[in-house]
Amino acid sequence: MKLYAPVLMHVPVLADKVVELLDPHPGDCVLDCTVGSAGTASAISAKIGPSGCLICLDRDDEALERARKTLASSSSRKFFHKSNFADLDNVLESLGFSSVDKIFFDLGVSRDQLYSAERGFSFISNGPLDMRMDRASPLTAADLVNGLFPDKLEDILRRFGEEHEARRIVQKIVEARSKHPIQTTLELADIIKRAVHPRRVRQRLHPATKTFQALRIAVNAELENIEEALPKAVAKLKTGGRVAVISFHSLEDRIVKNFFRDEAKAGRLRVITKKVLRPSYIEVKSNPSSRSARLRAAEKVI
Ligand SMILES: C[S@@+](CC[C@H](N)C(=O)[O-])C[C@H]1O[C@@H](n2cnc3c(N)ncnc32)[C@H](O)[C@@H]1O
Repeated sequence: MKLYAPVLMHVPVLADKVVELLDPHPGDCVLDCTVGSAGTASAISAKIGPSGCLICLDRDDEALERARKTLASSSSRKFFHKSNFADLDNVLESLGFSSVDKIFFDLGVSRDQLYSAERGFSFISNGPLDMRMDRASPLTAADLVNGLFPDKLEDILRRFGEEHEARRIVQKIVEARSKHPIQTTLELADIIKRAVHPRRVRQRLHPATKTFQALRIAVNAELENIEEALPKAVAKLKTGGRVAVISFHSLEDRIVKNFFRDEAKAGRLRVITKKVLRPSYIEVKSNPSSRSARLRAAEKVI
């Protein structure tokens, strides 16, 4: 199979705003739960300096490798750990930290992952139907597409992709997989194109966008992970410490918004972003992948 994809580096989103809201000081200890290519982590490192420490998590080995290279010349004390951020409490304990000053989540996939054809996240280039952020995890998108009962698959497409043509798409998937397993991203994209209303094929949003998003969320248990991680993050923040979260779709953002609201009611957090922050027109122009980003931040009160 020919694997082709444009080589495009991840450009950090809303990085200045994140630094402004987290307000890292020299000597702070900062946990970046989704270090990726460490664009945002580099900006944070410049603020915390040599007396500060940066704990970098990612569940993708390749991302951690990129982060190591990006941060090679940073003067802060650094720790790199392959982990799901849902396990952040255990990771911090294993590294000897009982609490930290700042915690950052930049959810979703990076451009490096998206445009690497063999990772199978994109319907633009051909690759195996994989979509695992952690390549050691057992479940791939092909397993879901070929193995789930139709009603379960439809439910995933509706809930995580808000795909209103889920039933038609699943019917076509079931037809196709009864002949042979669907194995590549372009095979699936093609099935979706044939399933949806012809009007959608001419629209700007690719007809496979919502299905691919839904499968990615399901494969990586993205919503469960953030639900599990947020209370742990608050528990591990020092009083006066701050947490910031960038999400890229409304399902994630709703979880963050409701969590912050409930914690504020309980008196544990003070929400700093009264309204969700979005990238400026200029940022979206120069980095179109930032267009759906939403940033929220809060400070630990007690
Ligand atoms: C949008 S990118 C982060 C980009 C980063 N801020 C930068 O400046 O390069 C998201 C990263 O989070 C990682 N990730 C997503 N979910 C994760 C999870 N549950 N645990 C750990 N890492 C996760 C992905 O593998 C990806 O590398």
